[in-house]
Amino acid sequence: MLSLFKQIEVKLDRKLRRKLNPSLKLKLILNRNLNLNLKPFLKASAGILLLSTCTKKDVILVGHFATMTGSEASFGTSTDEAIKMARDEVNAAGGIHGKKIEIITLDDQGRPELAAAMVKRLIEQDKVVAILGEVASTRTLAAAPIAQKSKIPLVTPSSTNPKVTQIGDYIFRTCFIDPFQGTVMANFTLNNLKLKKVAIFRDIKSDYSVGLADFFKARLLELGGTVVEDLSYQSGDVDFNGQLTKIKSAQPEAVFIPGYYTEVGLIALQARQAGIKAALLGGDGWESTKLYEIGKDAVEGGYFSNHYSGDSTDPIVVSFVKKYKEKYGRVPDGMAATGYDGAKILFQAIANAASPTPELIRDQLAMIKDYNGVTGKISMNEKRDAVKGAVVVQVTGKSTKFVQNVNP
Ligand code: PHE
Repeated sequence: MLSLFKQIEVKLDRKLRRKLNPSLKLKLILNRNLNLNLKPFLKASAGILLLSTCTKKDVILVGHFATMTGSEASFGTSTDEAIKMARDEVNAAGGIHGKKIEIITLDDQGRPELAAAMVKRLIEQDKVVAILGEVASTRTLAAAPIAQKSKIPLVTPSSTNPKVTQIGDYIFRTCFIDPFQGTVMANFTLNNLKLKKVAIFRDIKSDYSVGLADFFKARLLELGGTVVEDLSYQSGDVDFNGQLTKIKSAQPEAVFIPGYYTEVGLIALQARQAGIKAALLGGDGWESTKLYEIGKDAVEGGYFSNHYSGDSTDPIVVSFVKKYKEKYGRVPDGMAATGYDGAKILFQAIANAASPTPELIRDQLAMIKDYNGVTGKISMNEKRDAVKGAVVVQVTGKSTKFVQNVNP
């Protein structure tokens, strides 16, 4: 994306550049997201200034902060594509309160401190009425206090750590939480796979991973399972051989790795190379087509809990998958599904509000009930968490296959 800016910026003549405000880069992201052809657009300097003045009045501005680059880039890109699809649907149907929805997407590069800075910018500079994001709990946890302080509703479509919504009454999520996800996977390990001796390998730098490991462990022990080893790594690590040697000698029947796809892929590869034959298990952080690209055959057959399965025959899912494929040329992953539902629920709350002000949108978010989403039927509870089911899927080649549905 940066190189795109470079290309565009050199094309701008000096005079035009002086006229533009400092948020030029941002506007360019915006324009790109609106699928405008930038070349003729940039030539018409008057056009840019005109657009920036009309945007404020005639549209409802919604922010999205996301990991668009780096080792978890598929989290942000999938979510953003789905949010844009939801936006297009709403706008094609006439918009909300007679206005079009406009999404401003900012890249936090997977860094918590940037996530906080981007949310600040969305609120103070762009004056958005609501915010979508992030996928990763650690990034949402870093940014949500700013939204809470400014009383701007923030909806995370996929951060599952319980602490996220505890930040305050303006913070919502449209996905399940990790105590539920951890329970689902512990039940599955013991009751379905009949595996009792488990090693846990967690990312100590991720609130999501640490939380999910703890919830899984608690339930596993409750059901009579044993944790033969509980070790950690840090996101960004590439060599896991030290810990894997210990895990191997503990002879587990399964290894639970609640991490994100890049490290999980590498861990799986090195585990198989080290001769670990145990079943590999994880959570929603595994969800990405990149998992298989990185982990190859080593991840084959692994099980993880997720927000949805593209295999579903539910008409809502079938139509979502079809529309997404037509628009983007590939099957939507779990983040696309949660991103789409999160955006649609936020848009519904905006529509239900007497006027699109942050406070009234917040009140409507709190009242969401029985929303029929791609990821299931969604109701907001008093803790601003969605109550909904999970699915267990199995890695099969580049994709995953549906194994079971679990309702709360
Ligand atoms: N649930 C993860 C977290 O809270 C993020 C995630 C969601 C990753 C969905 C992949 C798919 O950090």
